[in-house]
Amino acid sequence: MASSAAFFVSFLYIVLFSAFATAQQTGRTRHYKFNVQLHNVARLCKTKTILTVNGKFPGPRIVAREGDRVVVKVVNSAPNNVSIHWHGVRQLLSGWADGPAYVTQCPIQSGQSYVYNFTIIGQRGTLWWHAHISWLRATIYGPIIILPIQNTSYPFPKPHKEVPIIFGEWWNADTEAVINQALQTGGGPNVSDAYTINGLPGPSYNCSANGTKNLQAESETGKTYLIRLINAALNDDLFFRISNHTLTVVEADAVYVKPFETDIVLIAPGQTTNVLLKTKPNPTNSTFLMAARPYFTGQGTFDNSTVVAILEYEKRHISTSSSITGLHIPTLPPINATSFVANFSNRFRSLASARFPANVPETVDKKFFFTVGLGSNPCPKNATCQGPNGTKFAASVNNISFTNPTTAILQSYFFNQSNGVYTTDFPSAPLVPFNYTGTPPNNTRVANGTKAVVLPFNTTVEVVLQDTSILGAESHPLHLHGYNFFVVGQGFGNFDPKKDPPNFNLADPVERNTIGVPSGGWAAIRFRADNPGVWMMHCHFEVHFSWGLRMAWIVLDGKMPNQKLPPPPLDLPKC
Ligand code: C2O
Repeated sequence: MASSAAFFVSFLYIVLFSAFATAQQTGRTRHYKFNVQLHNVARLCKTKTILTVNGKFPGPRIVAREGDRVVVKVVNSAPNNVSIHWHGVRQLLSGWADGPAYVTQCPIQSGQSYVYNFTIIGQRGTLWWHAHISWLRATIYGPIIILPIQNTSYPFPKPHKEVPIIFGEWWNADTEAVINQALQTGGGPNVSDAYTINGLPGPSYNCSANGTKNLQAESETGKTYLIRLINAALNDDLFFRISNHTLTVVEADAVYVKPFETDIVLIAPGQTTNVLLKTKPNPTNSTFLMAARPYFTGQGTFDNSTVVAILEYEKRHISTSSSITGLHIPTLPPINATSFVANFSNRFRSLASARFPANVPETVDKKFFFTVGLGSNPCPKNATCQGPNGTKFAASVNNISFTNPTTAILQSYFFNQSNGVYTTDFPSAPLVPFNYTGTPPNNTRVANGTKAVVLPFNTTVEVVLQDTSILGAESHPLHLHGYNFFVVGQGFGNFDPKKDPPNFNLADPVERNTIGVPSGGWAAIRFRADNPGVWMMHCHFEVHFSWGLRMAWIVLDGKMPNQKLPPPPLDLPKC
């Protein structure tokens, strides 16, 4: 912190006023233009050139209603190759618009453009978009706000106003240099210098008073606000709390949940959580601090700082004049509070109502058991490496560390040209079973490859995601593209195929696109493969993604015309 005086004059107001205008009708088409361009921003006492969309950081909001078509023309005016992913959008029959580089498309070259065209079907709430190549999502991200169909209401009291709070991570260094250097040396990458809320490090960091004044934020007393929380941080789960206020969780990953109250929210990278905030009818203070800081279970270093922002009540409603002097940062759980996280995550339940049923596959056609965790690759001859025992860090699913092909998998699949691009022999269980969460094996070496699992259309799938203790147990936020899944069970230690399935929740399991696999534990998910295409599943910690903790599902076409993936758009980028 620069000084306590600076602290008292630094106001990071959270915008608590009307977030957007409401749309006119359902089923309309919303056009956006995203110009990926360099832009200078000042953060933490330095000016830095970052990649942005339209010169904005965080990027522009996409606002649509359920049922709307969204057409985004992405023009790449930056020197880097990019692709954009619409995180959590189901992309029914629009897999060409999903965005992960080398999986559904080749990156958009500098100077080129690509039009992403998709319809939002059966989803409402908060999602987000981000770059999906290397670490460019560090600064290329923004909210997707999906309003309910016109004239339908939320299954909770109508909020007075709505506001997105998007968490990010800020590096003083160039994040491309950070990850490239780490991949070169094999060591862990440098950690971020700050966390951000809506792009701003708050008053707990140096030089972070300026640049926040443009945010005019005032909340009224005795009203309900809908806060759309998004964790866009690269490598960190975050705890979040607002002093003296209780939150009601009502939605996760654009699916309504049974409402529950909590003072503290845990949100993993990739996840979104909508919460209701009731402002006090007669507050004694006009300002309250909110804070976020990491939950961390790994063994390496991490950014152990806390981001703070201010919730400010509208002054005219308050008789006592108050300043932020003496306000305290809300207490958050210990850094490694794994049991808090497990309890919190267990509280998420589907509404499972007539209007919003939980269509959990009750029977399973194909079962998979996937280990997720770290590993190593040998150090190249005549080099020195900074990973574990002089090796290079890697990460894997079933000990396969995913390597990018030279062209997009979806394209080679669609045109029957898989040769030399990918193979379909991804194992359905580890080839060498071991005590996954016990004493780790001495051999930590991974295999490298571009392997996929092929699923016939409409297969019902169960995947047990099992963390390993290799190079340290750690919570992994696993994200699936193209689908939501139901989290039918989770637990600590090794999954027991006899004792655990009888306890699965098939009645009201939470439906989401990103699940934090418990550190030293497992999570079981189910989904129906009713969306043909090539879909990634990966850890949403960017460092683990870079190290190979990712794989792909290839879902075949069904028999009916409306069960087939259409051909690619003509402007699909070429590698
Ligand atoms: Cu939000 Cu494949 O990612």
